[in-house]
Amino acid sequence: QPQAAITAVGHFLPERRLTNTDLEQMVETSDEWIQSRTGIKERRILDDDGKATAYMATQAAQELIDTHDIDPATIDIIIVATVTPDMLFPATACLVQDQIGARSAWGFDLSAACSGFLFALTNGASFIESGRAERVLVIGADTMSSITDYSDRSTCILFGDAAGAVLLEPSDTYGLQDAVHHADGTHSDLLKLPAGGSLRPASHETVDAGDHYLKQDGRPVFRHAVTGMSDVCTDIMERNDLSGNDVDYLVPHQANRRIIDATANRMGLSSDKVMMNIDRYGNTTAATVPLCLYDWQHELRPGHNLVLTTFGGGLTWGASYLTW
Ligand code: ACO
Repeated sequence: QPQAAITAVGHFLPERRLTNTDLEQMVETSDEWIQSRTGIKERRILDDDGKATAYMATQAAQELIDTHDIDPATIDIIIVATVTPDMLFPATACLVQDQIGARSAWGFDLSAACSGFLFALTNGASFIESGRAERVLVIGADTMSSITDYSDRSTCILFGDAAGAVLLEPSDTYGLQDAVHHADGTHSDLLKLPAGGSLRPASHETVDAGDHYLKQDGRPVFRHAVTGMSDVCTDIMERNDLSGNDVDYLVPHQANRRIIDATANRMGLSSDKVMMNIDRYGNTTAATVPLCLYDWQHELRPGHNLVLTTFGGGLTWGASYLTW
């Protein structure tokens, strides 16, 4: 059975920077508070009229196609992990398929909040491993600014907009080795977008109540994230007989620097083995992990052992062990 290897990476970041100093003008906060509590200095915001998640996903996919000289007609499946699709339907994947000219591909969106990319990676890899597909495009893309309440200081400091894309292809040598995923719907209330779905469709009342904005109970989410990510990372290391020395890089979801540091500590990893770009981009939800892979791709060598891990709304979390 072939393994599913990541053979190409692409990304997109909007031009506009929203700095902590900018946020000081918008809500009662300070650069010092934001940096010490989260590690974030600035995030990117997509503010082009008529452009949203499908646009960013397309840009990331197009970069991957251009830099690796891929014929888009050879892509079999497109999976877009997102909680901010352009519309509830059609799927963002169909809009991307059209815009990159992947005329032989089918595809769908996957909703698992900040865990979306990792869930999509396992999903995409299964198509390769089973022989059902030869080329799967896995994209994580979120326009978090479209669901962020910029008068709520507890959430507006955290999120940014971006997209990242990877191409999965069969390999005899390297690829996804193992994946462990979890969901716990008993805590679904801790992090959610309350309105706009079938339960509470858009109405004057939902708009007036601000219920089309993301709501988060930060403190318990933080606690669950530290335990969830640390436990699942140590679990995947034990299952695969990996010590801290065997892991070349940890690729963690970028929600909070303190969560990442705690996870790396539990795994016995020094900071030079931890991919971290939260200072520049904030939490871009499904885009954080592929953005890290993009930023570090020139440091990565064939055979490097990576542990990817995410935690997010649902609650959802997981870890994947990948040889590059
Ligand atoms: N500036 C200044 N003060 C603030 C700010 C701010 N931006 N935000 C909150 N505060 C205040 C609070 O009002 C509170 O004041 P009080 O003690 O007088 O009530 C105080 O700071 C402490 O608030 P906490 O919420 O306890 O702060 P905490 O240290 O927990 O940091 C944070 C908040 C950064 C949100 C943290 O809880 C966190 O990172 N949570 C997890 C986020 C996460 O992992 N999300 C999952 C992924 S996201 C997804 O799936 C879409």
